[in-house]
Amino acid sequence: MLAADRPAVVMETKVLKINPSSFADEELAEAVALIRQGELVSFPTETVYGLGANALDNEACKKIFQAKGRPSDNPLIVHVSSMEMLHTVAASVPPKVAEFLTRSRFWPGPLTILFPKKENVPQAVTAGQTTVAVRMPSHPIAHKLIALSGVPIAAPSANLSGRPSPTTAGHVIADLTGRVKCIVDGGGTSVGLESTVLDMSRDPPMVLRPGGITYEQLKKYLPDVVVYGQGGHKDQSMEDKPPTPGLKYRHYSPNAYVVLFDLAPPPKEGGDHAATDGGVRMGEELIARVRKALDDKQSVGVIHTHREIELPADLKALARHVGDAAGDSGADDPAREPLLVYPVAVEVDQADEEGRERFAAEVARGLFKALRGLDARGVDIIFVEGIDESHTGYAVMNRLRKAAAASVHCVGL
Ligand code: TXA
Ligand code: MG
Repeated sequence: MLAADRPAVVMETKVLKINPSSFADEELAEAVALIRQGELVSFPTETVYGLGANALDNEACKKIFQAKGRPSDNPLIVHVSSMEMLHTVAASVPPKVAEFLTRSRFWPGPLTILFPKKENVPQAVTAGQTTVAVRMPSHPIAHKLIALSGVPIAAPSANLSGRPSPTTAGHVIADLTGRVKCIVDGGGTSVGLESTVLDMSRDPPMVLRPGGITYEQLKKYLPDVVVYGQGGHKDQSMEDKPPTPGLKYRHYSPNAYVVLFDLAPPPKEGGDHAATDGGVRMGEELIARVRKALDDKQSVGVIHTHREIELPADLKALARHVGDAAGDSGADDPAREPLLVYPVAVEVDQADEEGRERFAAEVARGLFKALRGLDARGVDIIFVEGIDESHTGYAVMNRLRKAAAASVHCVGL
């Protein structure tokens, strides 16, 4: 049964609107009280919105799984507001980890690290792992909520299990109304996809889930760092029992059928994606597939990231631009239209490395919003122009490959 089909857990959901750049502690008082009472609160972090509960309260954490429809073997990330608080959940903090955090200044920020867990960390949080995943968020509201609650807060992304992670309070409201006591609305999140999960207990250290802190950034401080699933850092035992249990679940999927135009060649052993023969160019193939879908009377959404790719005049005349860049923010107008184009980061100049880095970060910021935005308009099929895998592009493509039902492998634009 899909999470979305489960009977709703009905409760009143209060939305607290708070300006992240200027707020008083009292504005969070209600949310703080709920955390302390063992209830759920959704709050913004710099990555995505989290669905939080007191990490030291097993019953409270169990409610998270119920509200999201999350499989109980998928452990939660614990959020702390200080190094002191880290010690309340980590049995030890290896000196090389402490030193790495001091030098890199990745904390507070979008990086999660595994630590040996302390006895008092409840079963619901670690789901049987011997480690606990911890992150110190930089978002002022997340930081304050944890500090004022005085307890570490366990929080997965605040979406129904399997759906794209929420990057606005509106996304959380759509998924979790009636399932959570309080949603703190602090506006859009800046990173737009989840934190990087890093296991420093392995030698060499391994990225288990790519995210907001990139491989290029990590490499500056951890020259031998490797990425799970890359360059043979994967074997059958790891596949059967993935080091990050969340990896084995279908993820980030809107209701529409998602087709990813991928600039990388298909995985050697086939993989789970129906790959077409290589050799096609993204622009031409995209246009051909849009035409075919329209002929089949499907309503089409395109997530458009490359300014080099332009629709021919007849399709351009039919297309309506939606999304932030088009000055349109929501799905107030759910009328089915044949062709919607959702531009993400097309305007960013990619002339140098810094530009390419900014481009990938912008795509990351807008990606889940675009998937949800097109979905909310009821399109049947979403075509996504995949991007290069450097910088945050690696995490972007990781998420898109999980969201996609099919991929088209392209040799270039
Ligand atoms: O940015 C983020 O990380 C967001 C915000 C809310 O902080 N949280 C988030 O949580 O993405 P979630 O539950 O959606 O993803 C947590 C990931 C899962 O893939 C899970 O399997 C992995 O972290 N994880 C958690 N604890 C782990 C552990 N002890 N060992 C290995 N992987 C773990
Ligand atoms: Mg998640």
